[in-house]
Amino acid sequence: MKPVILDVDTGLDDACALLLAARHPELDLKAVTCVGGNVGLDDVVVNTLTVLEAAGRSDVPVAAGAAVPLLQPVRAAPHVHGADGLGNLDWPRSTRTAGAGHAVDLLRDVLRAAAASGELVTLIPLAPMTNIALLLRTYPDVAAGLREIVFMGGAAGIGNATASAEFNIWTDPEAAAIALNAAAELGVPVTMYGLDVFYDVEISLDQARSLGGSPSAELARKLIEKRSELYQSDGASIGDGGAVCAVIEPAGLTTQSFPLRVELSGTWSRGRTIVDTRDWSADLSSDPHGPSSTVVQVATAVDGARYADLWLSTVK
Ligand code: BDR
Ligand code: CA
Repeated sequence: MKPVILDVDTGLDDACALLLAARHPELDLKAVTCVGGNVGLDDVVVNTLTVLEAAGRSDVPVAAGAAVPLLQPVRAAPHVHGADGLGNLDWPRSTRTAGAGHAVDLLRDVLRAAAASGELVTLIPLAPMTNIALLLRTYPDVAAGLREIVFMGGAAGIGNATASAEFNIWTDPEAAAIALNAAAELGVPVTMYGLDVFYDVEISLDQARSLGGSPSAELARKLIEKRSELYQSDGASIGDGGAVCAVIEPAGLTTQSFPLRVELSGTWSRGRTIVDTRDWSADLSSDPHGPSSTVVQVATAVDGARYADLWLSTVK
């Protein structure tokens, strides 16, 4: 079993990721932490608990974390996820509550236990990286419990929140910069599952409509139907869910090492992940613009059909 933690702003596609992580037999979902992003933190928590309940995994610890980014207000995305973040779906919402502790404390505790046991955890941030920045700067010792970080965010190419910036990084650029710098300093390998691959794991409406017979499958069908409706298309990508696929079956993802920096100013480019795709094959440390300490594995291509099958066969 591969131990994982998801950090989410649930979100229709975070929900796709949660169903997969909660149900896949090779993943040991240690905890889910919540952060404000697609919607406000309170809705994120309810949505997360609701999805875990549908997956039959109310045993997974959930904690609420940062409600707002480090420097700017949260800017929700109701046009992408509906006003409540879960597409205002006709689905009973969980009445459970999250654990009493802060997300950063839950992350710390799980990762310290992992360091002690030697069973290192893969951290999968699918949201603004506010909780992760706070965690790595407050408790850097937790790096000993981390196998790697595989995050959804950023893009080598075009953005979505703006022409330059992807939503998760744009929402809290300072947190992303802090988290990525800290990970590099602490020696934690990082993979960026960005917009360059985000839309490429697509479920058709026909495939979605074949799902049913269990709460998980019913919810999975509704998630894809709602995303298709919002995107006005005959199917929809599982978005954040692809990053979880990449942890389960890394062979389906093509990555390349590149220096990466987060743009913190810029008139039109704040929040952009500047992926330096020049040829670094000779010597990554020769980057004349600074240390190569922000080198990450950038996802450049994904086997969308393989990951779609993985998702469909797990959430059903
Ligand atoms: C990312 O932002 C959110 O809308 C999604 O949940 C995903 O994490 C895509 O830019
Ligand atoms: Ca998300």
